[in-house]
Amino acid sequence: MHDPHIFISTARNAALEAGEILRDGFGRLKSGDVALKGFGDYVTAMDHASEKHIISLIRRDFPDHRIMAEESGSDGDTGEYRWLIDPLDGTANYVHGIPFYSVSIAIEHGGRLMAGVVYHVELNEMFSAEPGQGAMLNGEPVRVSDRKGLDKAMLGTGFPWRSKPYIGAYMDTFQHLFMQSAGMRRMGSAAIDLSYVACGRLDGFWEMHLRPYDIGAGILMVREAGGVVSDFNGADTSLASGNVVAANPEIHRQMLEITGQHLSDVPGVDAIQAGTA
Ligand code: IPD
Ligand code: CA
Ligand code: CA
Repeated sequence: MHDPHIFISTARNAALEAGEILRDGFGRLKSGDVALKGFGDYVTAMDHASEKHIISLIRRDFPDHRIMAEESGSDGDTGEYRWLIDPLDGTANYVHGIPFYSVSIAIEHGGRLMAGVVYHVELNEMFSAEPGQGAMLNGEPVRVSDRKGLDKAMLGTGFPWRSKPYIGAYMDTFQHLFMQSAGMRRMGSAAIDLSYVACGRLDGFWEMHLRPYDIGAGILMVREAGGVVSDFNGADTSLASGNVVAANPEIHRQMLEITGQHLSDVPGVDAIQAGTA
């Protein structure tokens, strides 16, 4: 068993260096640098360059660890530790020249998140968290907001563009939350959305069918900042199911009453990928 503190410096350093790669390429993409993985699902040469660099740094420090990275997939079934890497969260923003994107890196051990970083490249904001150590923004502790009423809350979300059959249930939830909250944002990087919940800029966030590398770091961040993360029914399945409600405890309780009405039957992304949903 490793001392957990050794993970965070590798993660932070990898995110910073990957961020430099992304910053250099931002606004300079040529048409040959952008490809489509699916409908509306971009990947760029910079996603690949960032991921390659992150993996090389992790392999150098932890050669026996497993890796799940968005663009190159997962390696091996054995090994107790697994790194979750999103080399560029917010690729659609990046492609459109919207300066709101991040690098997200987490490590888990038997389903327990051991460290997580989210680096908002253009604002040079490094969010980080370790179990029991709290959540940090550029080295300073952050907490979730203490806003109590949903009617005062600013919520973030992401659209189910990879799960279009669920758009009806999503829009019902959106409408319900829209009518009862103070504001709604769709910013385009789930990792930053979760980090913003952790530091109190957002009071809550929800999205369905995210992947472990989108949310691993952000889930730890929110919990370490005093917030709650669950699926739409309140269960602790988010890392695998990708169904996320994250908020300060009071707003989480109020959001769950609404997501439970509209989204309780939505399967997890794990079930969709396995073809069992
Ligand atoms: C996406 C972003 C976006 C969320 C999508 C994710 P990507 O990640 O996090 O905010 O709504 O569901 O897939 O594709 O830019 O790494
Ligand atoms: Ca992502
Ligand atoms: Ca990505």
